[in-house]
Amino acid sequence: MDGTEQDRDSIVSAMGHLSHGVYVLGTRRGREMTAMTASWVARVSERPPCVAVGVRDDRYTHNVILESTTFSLSVLREDQVDIASHFADTSGEYHDKLYGIPYGKSPGGSPILLDCLAYLDCKVLDTAHAGDHTVFIGEVTAGESYDGPYNEPSEPLLYDPTEYEGALN
Ligand SMILES: Cc1cc2nc3c(=O)[nH]c(=O)nc-3n(C[C@H](O)[C@H](O)[C@H](O)COP(=O)(O)O)c2cc1C
Repeated sequence: MDGTEQDRDSIVSAMGHLSHGVYVLGTRRGREMTAMTASWVARVSERPPCVAVGVRDDRYTHNVILESTTFSLSVLREDQVDIASHFADTSGEYHDKLYGIPYGKSPGGSPILLDCLAYLDCKVLDTAHAGDHTVFIGEVTAGESYDGPYNEPSEPLLYDPTEYEGALN
């Protein structure tokens, strides 16, 4: 291993200590709804309230967001790893991942999961290129929180790579 590879490994390892939640990122093309799992999400402004999400340029979702300029984030609960895997394991280009999953439409027209901790509805304010990803900066135009099963307070799902072996590419 040369110096550059060691540098890269230590950078990747250090970045692995950043904390992320896990979300289902929804968007639409006309009446077609699609969604993928995303964890590279951050809150980035208070007024107006904004979030940023990094989407790799070759994801099917990427171009759909570019076209619709709207997206939603359904915040997953700690017991929803199976839902995160479901929206990561296949591409919306070939599969209707929302088929069989209870979902509704956000005010902006994006799909939102009916069973999750909260949802945010976003309008794209700006985009930035970051290597192989596009960062979509979204102004949060609507949002709502839900009770967990049996009205118990719930915790958000935190990203743990060991739970998604092989699912990230
Ligand atoms: C926990 C988890 C988090 C992920 N986060 C992101 C992310 O933030 N950005 C991204 O581009 N892909 C991310 N992915 C990968 C996409 O969810 C996956 O490639 C998906 O199949 C893309 O769907 P699409 O082709 O329908 O857009 C993540 C996968 C997992 C399992």
